[in-house]
Amino acid sequence: MLIAPPEVRLPTRDAVERAVRELDRRLGPSKVDVSEARREAHARDDSAAAGRLPDAVVLAEGRDDVRVALEVCEKHAVPVTPRAAGTGRTGGAVPVAGGVVLATQGMASIVDIDRHDLVAVVQPGVVTGALHAAVEAEGLFYPPDPNSLSSCMIGGNVAENAGGPRAFKYGVTRDYVLGLEACLMGGRVLRTGRRTIKGVTGYDVTSLLVGSEGTLGVFTEIALRLVHAPTEIATVLALYSDVAAAAAAVTRVIARGLVPRCLELMDAWSLEAIRRQGVSIDLRASAMLLVEVDARSAGGGGSASLDATLEALGETLSEGGHAIDVVAAQDEAQRARLWEARRMLSMATRKLAKYKLSEDVVVPRSRLVALLDEAARVCEREGVRHLTYGHAGDGNMHVNFLWDDDGERPAVDRAIEGLMRATVELGGTLSGEHGIGVSKAAYLPLEQGPELIGLQQDLKRVFDPSGLLNPGKIFPTGHRAC
Ligand code: LAC
Ligand code: ZN
Repeated sequence: MLIAPPEVRLPTRDAVERAVRELDRRLGPSKVDVSEARREAHARDDSAAAGRLPDAVVLAEGRDDVRVALEVCEKHAVPVTPRAAGTGRTGGAVPVAGGVVLATQGMASIVDIDRHDLVAVVQPGVVTGALHAAVEAEGLFYPPDPNSLSSCMIGGNVAENAGGPRAFKYGVTRDYVLGLEACLMGGRVLRTGRRTIKGVTGYDVTSLLVGSEGTLGVFTEIALRLVHAPTEIATVLALYSDVAAAAAAVTRVIARGLVPRCLELMDAWSLEAIRRQGVSIDLRASAMLLVEVDARSAGGGGSASLDATLEALGETLSEGGHAIDVVAAQDEAQRARLWEARRMLSMATRKLAKYKLSEDVVVPRSRLVALLDEAARVCEREGVRHLTYGHAGDGNMHVNFLWDDDGERPAVDRAIEGLMRATVELGGTLSGEHGIGVSKAAYLPLEQGPELIGLQQDLKRVFDPSGLLNPGKIFPTGHRAC
């Protein structure tokens, strides 16, 4: 196990037994699974955070199941960890206090796709890729595209405010959430937000709940804003002999005012991982940009605007003579292969070493080159292997720390802390899309002052006075010293 569970209050055996008995009675035994296999399967997520085996898994099929689960767990003082697909990268769905895992993957209906108002209403267990397919079949578009889109679910995307490559042009999940239905601890049902484009009534509670990492409420219905689908898409690949040249090209693209929908950078070891996936990339290349542009021609006209953008993009990527090659994907199959390799990168890089920890720091775009330098500097100082790839257009990079020997772990922790400090000094933030969860809780005070952390803890108490909903997340609890 890589990251030990934080110090949290565990439920008593009596409390758990009483809660499970009441859940059984009120939900029916088929929705309350205490089998070893189910509990094991819900003890981890896709992060390095270690959990404690939950005592039961509630398989919610609708809002009332969620409401009852939260009422019963509050009554008996049993911690609850909400979970959609469990693809999170920081331990958000990991039950660090045992108790109940409240699984919402059974709530997987697309309730409505409204073509006229451009709104989709969905349950939390809808797979993000399935929502893409459903709205695209209607000529519409839901842009947020976390790389795990074939398995991650909207409920988790909203809880973590997930991003993805298309965020450069289209923004992140929060930019698309219009309104929520959420159940709070104790079983209260809250409806927030709206279905209209504009709306400023009261506090923006919807935005507070988006990205709250399952610590404030459990979503049971989500209203999402849609846009019209682009009619043309083109993908360009630019190869460079070093990562600094690739980063400089990103800066030039932004400075020229070009807005590709994706502007992704991969360094030498990331390319190596892609090559090992069977994708051939020129061996002279030590860095690559994957750039995608899209446009929507309202009257079904030609692709003049996209052609002009592509030409400007090609010039900008090649400028200065550092590019080895700049080529457009020749067809849909080639485009799909490139994206498949990019989307698999997080998994593929795991094969490069026995252990891997991945960060998702963000710096102002103008500081991208400085961030890459700092990552290299702290890793060299600590003698730790690393690779970097990510959403360069957003200044949001996945710095991955790789090691094989358990004895290297203290050096890795020092390197991660060094990266976090450097990020904050560059005017950046610890997490662009994966959240704080368990993995980064210890580092929160590097970025946020005690007043801000205290205010957020006060808010948490308003929603969840007993501290039973997803305990041990976001806020430092002394499980690892900075
Ligand atoms: C990615 C995930 C790890 O960008 O955020 O691949
Ligand atoms: Zn990412």
